[in-house]
Amino acid sequence: MGYQFAIKLDQIAEETMTRLVLDTQPILLVHHQAQIYAIQDACPHMGASLAKGTLSEGRVVCPKHKAQIDVKTGRIVSKAKVLFLKLPTKAAKVYPVKIEDGKIFVEV
Ligand code: FES
Repeated sequence: MGYQFAIKLDQIAEETMTRLVLDTQPILLVHHQAQIYAIQDACPHMGASLAKGTLSEGRVVCPKHKAQIDVKTGRIVSKAKVLFLKLPTKAAKVYPVKIEDGKIFVEV
């Protein structure tokens, strides 16, 4: 529990994502607009790894049914789509992040 070291800040380029596991939790780190965000790396719809998705304008697009998740809040911006249906999806879990001496820490 508490903040855990994740990676160094210079190991994640601007507008990219990287997956890691901290305290058994799969976490996706996102570098967006000079900020680091941490979000669960399991889509709240059906659990797909968001690390295999894409990052666009501060949203992670799930590779499975294309739900779009705001990396700052975990809020669903666009629902999962299966055929013609848009399915309700709860928000993704987000984790507090702090940066000290060029190192990223995530509270898990
Ligand atoms: S598993 Fe992510 S949108 Fe369905």
